[in-house]
Amino acid sequence: MATKKKTIRVFAPATVANLACGFDIMGLAIDEPGDIVEITPNKSGDLFITKITGDGKKLSRNPFENTVTVSIAAFLQHSGLKQGFDIVLHKQMPLGSGLGSSAASSAAGVKAVNEFFGKPLKTKELVKFAMEGERVACGSAHADNVAPCLLGGIVLCHPSGELVELPVPAGMHLVVVHPQVEVLTRDSRAVLPKQIALSTGIQQWANTAALTSSLYTGDYDLMRLALQDLVAEPNRGKLIPYFTDIKSAAMQHAIGCSISGSGPSVFAIAKGLPAAKQTAKAMEAVCKKFKLRCTVYVSKVNRSGAKVLR
Ligand code: HSE
Repeated sequence: MATKKKTIRVFAPATVANLACGFDIMGLAIDEPGDIVEITPNKSGDLFITKITGDGKKLSRNPFENTVTVSIAAFLQHSGLKQGFDIVLHKQMPLGSGLGSSAASSAAGVKAVNEFFGKPLKTKELVKFAMEGERVACGSAHADNVAPCLLGGIVLCHPSGELVELPVPAGMHLVVVHPQVEVLTRDSRAVLPKQIALSTGIQQWANTAALTSSLYTGDYDLMRLALQDLVAEPNRGKLIPYFTDIKSAAMQHAIGCSISGSGPSVFAIAKGLPAAKQTAKAMEAVCKKFKLRCTVYVSKVNRSGAKVLR
């Protein structure tokens, strides 16, 4: 039964997926930007997208094609509920940015509908419905954006569906530079190798294990060693203008730097706010030098994830 017949608004934050070595299995949330979804019950029994702002009219209003409605429909079907909603989506982050834009809409939608019904499911249980939004967005139902978006923090998404919330070491800051070019996840997944050499796998597994360990111990030297991607970055880096220059500049001050999700955003991890600010300045200077317009975000790891706005 619904708790209250009124509009529910949810904010869901941007996320950085992959964290260099953890392709498709690790991600974290940052404080901004993020999307807002509003749901209002209707009597029709159907889902309607009544308004989308901030998308430059690029997103589908068809409820079978939009990530927010696909995710809500998956929740309703699983729960055996027949309730219609009018849905407003405020896109406050760029599409095709590598910041988990589609994931934020999906996460906000399922969080809102769960709230409407009086929170029958735990936040972790909402992840699988938001993943259905990812499936329509890019053809792959990965959890590394939707899980940290819903839960906050840093999340390891085991392919079994198990979600492990990892510790955030003291002083950890994120710098994210979003160059104003669009790279669709679908396209940047197409450039990935179908197979990798065993030696590459060994290095990548070692990096993922070392990164996980460094989060528990706060060992930034180990983290520096671990934040290397031998699988996606060598192929995707070519899709991002001046990626090598931006990364080199970041690494003068940061612990690690790689592509945020499927790009084109580039993220860096810095120890402490002063180092994060220096990293941001250095990365931005490269964009300015090459006349590449960009937006820069400096943030701690967002611990709260998607939240209901009162
Ligand atoms: N893990 C995904 C990828 C995140 O890199 O393709 C983007 O949605």
